[in-house]
Amino acid sequence: MKRIGILTSGGDCAGLNAVIRAITLRAIQGYGWEVYGIHQGTHGLMRRPVDASKLDLSFCTGSLFREGGTVLGTTNKGDPFAFPLPDGTLKDLSENVIEGYRLLKLDALVGIGGDGSQDILRRLAQQGGLNLVAIPKTIDDDLSHTEHSIGFMTAVDVATEALDRLQPTAASHDRVMILEVMGRDAGHIALVSGIAGGADIILIPEIPYQMKNIADKIQSLREAGRNFALMVVSEAVGTETGEKAKIMDLEGRSRYGGISHHIANRITELTGAETRFTVLGHVQRGGQPSAQDRVLASVFGTHAVDLIAQGKFDRMVAWQNRHVVDVSIQQAIAGYQAVDIHGSLVKTARGLGICLGDENF
Ligand code: F6P
Repeated sequence: MKRIGILTSGGDCAGLNAVIRAITLRAIQGYGWEVYGIHQGTHGLMRRPVDASKLDLSFCTGSLFREGGTVLGTTNKGDPFAFPLPDGTLKDLSENVIEGYRLLKLDALVGIGGDGSQDILRRLAQQGGLNLVAIPKTIDDDLSHTEHSIGFMTAVDVATEALDRLQPTAASHDRVMILEVMGRDAGHIALVSGIAGGADIILIPEIPYQMKNIADKIQSLREAGRNFALMVVSEAVGTETGEKAKIMDLEGRSRYGGISHHIANRITELTGAETRFTVLGHVQRGGQPSAQDRVLASVFGTHAVDLIAQGKFDRMVAWQNRHVVDVSIQQAIAGYQAVDIHGSLVKTARGLGICLGDENF
């Protein structure tokens, strides 16, 4: 009998519980293995006693897999190779994590995470000879070699619903309503939700914009008899001169946020239009996973366990051309999936007359 561990690492997103369920079902029903859920990513393996609990079939029968978040907990800070101690110094605790894997007597580990987490988990696996299989998750959808990562499609649904809710206010008040969405340096959420939600203007980090083009678009809408405009802005879009809007927390960590405020003011200056902005934030990460994310989670979880059964490690499961495949983790994290500015979605947006901020609309 094998004993496998599961951990979720990095920012949460919808669909994580559905992956944990799929792994557990496949491992117990398909192979008769034992499954351990490790709490709070690699932190659970650092703690003594190791912070993990045995998952059984009762975990899979409830409604948990329909819920957002991760029942195992997660963290996007505390890199074990440079772990921050209370006195402010950094310590390499990688050997503690490796020891935790051995103490749990694991034969393999399934790590569910984005590129940063997979990089850390892979380095740990290489150092300690751990048998690792990775599952991609991130609302940003920026991992290469997979068409989608878990959480992205739910985030798109949430952003699309937000646009549906903003449109009536835009029309009722003759306003330009701006929705700022997450996505880090990739504009996938903005582009896809913007098309789905009927946006007139979409700004993504991959396409530099000029305010003049946005003002012209709003003017052309007015001339066509439209009294409002709907706009989606990705959080990593900067000012026209390329400065990013960032929020600094008290621990000195910065993250994107707030560019829509600047853009709203610039639109008012240039067009006189009344503007409002909404920063959607973490709403995109929570809530029930969409049907598509539940299916992807089920496919990925099942395949990850089958890889372990075949003794195939250092692999990331991926979705390509309507099939589940696996690629080397190294390959997956070495690449980056930005929006293809010559791809079908950008062409579609342009074809619909959506302004992407450049001259090309
Ligand atoms: O990577 C996922 C993500 O939600 C990004 O889209 C966003 O920029 C960031 O994480 C927010 O991180 P935090 O949860 O630390 O605020």
